[in-house]
Formats: sequence, C-alpha cells, structure tokens
Amino acid sequence: MQITSFKQYEEDFKKSVDNPEQFWGEVAQNFQWRKPWFKVLSWNFNEPNIKWFEGAKLNITENCLDRHLEKNGDKPAIIWEPNNPEEESVTYTYKMLHERVCRFANVLKRNGAKKGDRICIYMPMVPELAIAVLACARIGAVHSVIFGGFSAKSIADRINDSQCKLVITADGAYRGNKQIPLKDVIDDALIGCPTVEKCIVLTHVRTPVSMLKGRDVWWEDEVKHVNDICEAEEMDAEDMLFILYTSGSTGKPKGVVHTCGGYMVYAGYTFSNVFNYQPGEVYFCTADIGWITGHSYIVYGPLSQGATSVLFEGIPTYPSPSRFWDIVEKHKVNTLYTAPTAIRSLMSFGDEPLNGKDLSSIRVLGSVGEPINEEAWHWFDEKIGHGKAPIVDTWWQTETGGIMISPIATVTPTKPSYATLPLPGIQPILVDENGKEIEGNGVSGNLCIKFPWPGMLRTTYGDHERCKQTYFSTYENLYFTGDGCLRDEDGYYRITGRVDDVLNVSGHRIGTAEVENAINMHAGVVESAVVGYPHDVKGQGIYAFVINPEMHGEEELTKKDILQTVTRVIGAIAKPDKILFVAGLPKTRSGKIMRRILRKIAEGDTANLGDTSTLLDPAVVDQIIEASKALK
Ligand code: PRX
Repeated sequence: MQITSFKQYEEDFKKSVDNPEQFWGEVAQNFQWRKPWFKVLSWNFNEPNIKWFEGAKLNITENCLDRHLEKNGDKPAIIWEPNNPEEESVTYTYKMLHERVCRFANVLKRNGAKKGDRICIYMPMVPELAIAVLACARIGAVHSVIFGGFSAKSIADRINDSQCKLVITADGAYRGNKQIPLKDVIDDALIGCPTVEKCIVLTHVRTPVSMLKGRDVWWEDEVKHVNDICEAEEMDAEDMLFILYTSGSTGKPKGVVHTCGGYMVYAGYTFSNVFNYQPGEVYFCTADIGWITGHSYIVYGPLSQGATSVLFEGIPTYPSPSRFWDIVEKHKVNTLYTAPTAIRSLMSFGDEPLNGKDLSSIRVLGSVGEPINEEAWHWFDEKIGHGKAPIVDTWWQTETGGIMISPIATVTPTKPSYATLPLPGIQPILVDENGKEIEGNGVSGNLCIKFPWPGMLRTTYGDHERCKQTYFSTYENLYFTGDGCLRDEDGYYRITGRVDDVLNVSGHRIGTAEVENAINMHAGVVESAVVGYPHDVKGQGIYAFVINPEMHGEEELTKKDILQTVTRVIGAIAKPDKILFVAGLPKTRSGKIMRRILRKIAEGDTANLGDTSTLLDPAVVDQIIEASKALK
C-alpha cells in the first residue's frame, strides 16, 4: 500500500477517483478483519449517511498490537521521553504494550465499563495515556480524550454531553517547570457530572489528591487485581471508536464521532504514505494525544503500521530550547512531525540551541495544524533538515480523521507554505460564496470535498442535525471544511486559513463565540466581540473588544479578572492576548456585529475599513480606533 513513485501516485489517484470502492477495498486488505465487508461504501451527503466497509467486523487494537506480536513483539512501539531530561526514558515493546493494554482493559471491565460506554480520559503525555485509549478500544468503549489544558467547566460540559460513565486521570502533569493538578481539576468538574460512576487515577507527579470513597480508585492498585488476558471485543466497522470535541463557530464545542473500520484504514494508510515510514525507523510526533493529531499519528496510525514512536511528555523549550534537538539526537529520530507555532518559537532563539546537535538521523519533516509561513518553512528545511529532508505540510482536521492534502515524502514535490496535492481518495474542490465550483488553476475559494473518504466524521455526538448543518448544508452535496484555499498555476493547494469564526491559536482550535461567552460570564461585562489577529509565534492571537465593564478596582486588575474568568470557563489556552475596553461595538441596524471592521482594527490596518455607512452608529468605529492606539 506504500506509494513509491510519482507515477504510482498519479495512477493510484486516478484509480481512487474512477473506482473508489475497488481502491479502498484493496487498501483495506492490508489490515486484519475478523469478518470481511459486503459493501465498501454507501453514502449520501444530504442526511449525511456514510458507511465504509459495511458488515465487516474487527477490533482496531488487534491491528495495532496483536498482529505485530509474532514477528515484531520485541520491537519498540513507544519510547517515552519524560518532561525532565534527567529522568530515564522508558521503552515499551509491542509485547509489553499489548500486555499493559489487556491488563488495563480488564481494569475497565472490573470498574463496570462495557462496549458502547463513553469514557473520558484527562491525562498527561505518559504511556498510560496511550494504554488507556487502547484499552477502551479493546473492550469497545468509546473514548473521549480531553486535552490537559481545558478547565473543569469545559471537562464537565464534555462529560455531560456524551454521558461518560468513567473518567481516567492522573494526580497531576508536568509541563516544563510547572505542575498541573489534573485530579483537582477533575474533582471540580465531577461535582456537576451525575453520570460518572468511577474515576481511575494514575500516580504520576505524587502530589496529594483527594480520593472519594466509592468513586475514586488508584490505577496501580487496580492492575494488581486483574490478569493480562483480554480477548478483544468484536466491533462492527461502523461502531463508534471515539468522540473528540472540537470548536466551531457556535459557543458549544461539538463531539466529532469517528468509527472503527474506516478510521483505522485511513489513519494507517496515510501514516505509511505521507511519512514514507520504513520499518525500524524512529518517528516523533510532538502533538498531544488530546488533539486529533495525537489520536491518528501517535496512537492509531503508527501502531497499526508496527512503527516505533517517541512519546514526549514535555514542551519544546524546557529545560532549554534545545530540547527537541536533544531528543532527536538521543533517540536517532528519523521523522519529526510538529507544528508551525513550535517551529516559529524555536526559530526565535537563533542558531545557538542547535550548536553541536547531531540531527543527521532526520529523513522526513512534517508540519501540521496551521498554515506554515515561508520563513518558518525555510528555517525548518535548512536548519533541521539540512536541505535533505522533505517537509510534508499536512492539511487536515479533527473531522477528516487523517491527512487529506499533503506531499508524500520522497514521492511527490514539496513547495514552501503549500500543502500541495490531495492524497489518493481525496477529491477537493473550490467553490465561491454561492457554491459554484471554481475550476482551473490560479484561483481561490472555499475548500470543500466532494466525495467521501474512510476517515471522515460520521456524526456529531447526540446531535446529527448539527453535523448536517455545520458541514453538509452550506453547499449542496459537499463537505465544507471551513477553510479558504488557493490553487496555484500548478494545481497545488495552499490553505489560507479559516473563513468562519474559528481561531487557530498556536495550532489550538478555538471558536470566537466560545471566548465571547466566557468573557461575558465575568461579572460586570455586558457584551464583547473576539477576533483573531496575526501573531508572530502563535500564528493567530486573540483580540477581545469588551464594552466598558463595571469595574471593581482599576482597569488592569479588571482585565486580569477577565482573563481569570476565561481560564476558569475554557482553559488558559483561550486567554485573550489583548483586551480593549470600548464604549460600543460596530453593529449593523439589525444588531449584527461587523467583525470585518474589528479584524482590521486588531490587525492595525485602520486606513481602509471599507463601507461603514450601514452601521447603526458609525462614530463608534472612530472611538474604537482611538482607544486601540493606546493599547500595546
Ligand atoms: O484551518 C485548518 C488548520 O487547522 C484546522 C483544523 O484544526 P483541528 O481540527 O484542530 O486539526 C488540527 C490538526 C489536523 C483546519 O481547518 N490546519 C490544519 N493543518 C493545516 C491547517 N492550515 C494550514 N495548513 C495546514 N497544514
């Protein structure tokens, strides 16, 4: 299934369009199924109703673990690199990982979990996180991993939305020189979560935690009560594998649902091809398992292909900005897959952190999560890849399950800041505002996908109508990505950013409405409007315009209070970078906020604000501009 030449890419692409069922049917043969499918694909984008590998039975963990045991049982599956470089790294072979997953799967059963139950996972980047995820999949429970940066309220909302029965967490997490009290946050969350019966707590940072009788149990105690034999649950290809919450243009994050068969095939196929993974190589993805990149390209993709992955607990700048390069040297990393925000941040430290580091093992580089600017692309190429390692700029989304548009390392060309060409099986099209296809090259438009692929979302948990409205109703018979896109003269795609009210801050996806709701919860705030603005390191920063709140104390303190509220309601990742108190917001006569104007002001581009005559009170714009000048 690995593409080895450009000619083969072209042939595979053509086949995937001319005969998608045959194409994906053949790809799927590379995986282990308990029972084959009777139909590769049935679909319509109206309802939407999408089924891949109908009738097939499988368990994804048999593909990620069991099938490697005979030949590659002693091969490293995960190399864990702790936050503190003074601590030893830990290697888990496939055999060890299989044993741990089976054992923990039995712990889940012992605590009442069964097929179809939803389980919330809120953990640090430790091997037990991957083990917890796989153990859920082993018994057919649906995992909902929540990134460690979210607040108690965010967790509670997500747990309640999917009615989780069980929570898996740890006492705490390390992040550079900080310690995060995960269990305390979970305790706050669980006050408002009546469906949660049990909470399994891993000891990690050894901080004191409260353990509630009858609800909370220790991971280390539980594993002593069970053995390591756990037959994998037989799953239907279209049974739910996981839920992952993501932000959209409304205030409430939605639970994107992925299913077992199609997701497995797509994550495995794209991992093997995009990174041109070769047996024995060491692959390092720096994402957190709390996001889709970690699900698909730390857990399921690499393990399904028998790869060796580095799982890193810490951050790129701790204890110094050399950390990534030390890890590359120490574990002889062949593929490094990271985010533009990390590249830009490391770039800002100059060449010094790279001095004396042996990066010669690097063969492939990858970028994900946000547009990569040319300067960062070239720095990555020259300083890290030494001009020899192809950079795969991978465009995809939580909803797509896997990489959609990207170079295929060593096979298809790269181009700075371009995601380049669609992978086989992916049929992108650009449309104008009215949904009319924009054909030809050298054009820009809204990016849609016109044919299903196995890794696509099937629904949004508990609200299928929302899935339909968000992705399949803007344009008839198309999946709408929410991204703007340019197709250049050569037919290469360049993603230009979101066209909806979704921000991408350091690769984290945050809805403006979510941040506004959080700000508005602060006592004294009546109304606010949030927009993104270009930020050198984060890609986008968050700019909040807040109508003069009732102040308790001076202005700076009130701003800090608002930041604290946002941290409480969503998490520190959603804190605005700038807050401007204003007398009013630019609104149309029908009361709609004109964000276009606020975006321009946030960018500092006030010379050309466009037509403001339709505003209810045009004078408000001048007041905002005046106030913005005083803000650093
Ligand atoms: O705007 C696109 C941007 O990230 C969005 C998806 O975010 P999320 O679901 O959190 O998934 C991120 C990891 C796959 C997209 O709608 N995005 C992602 N990758 C790229 C990108 N923008 C430009 N270039 C990329 N390579």
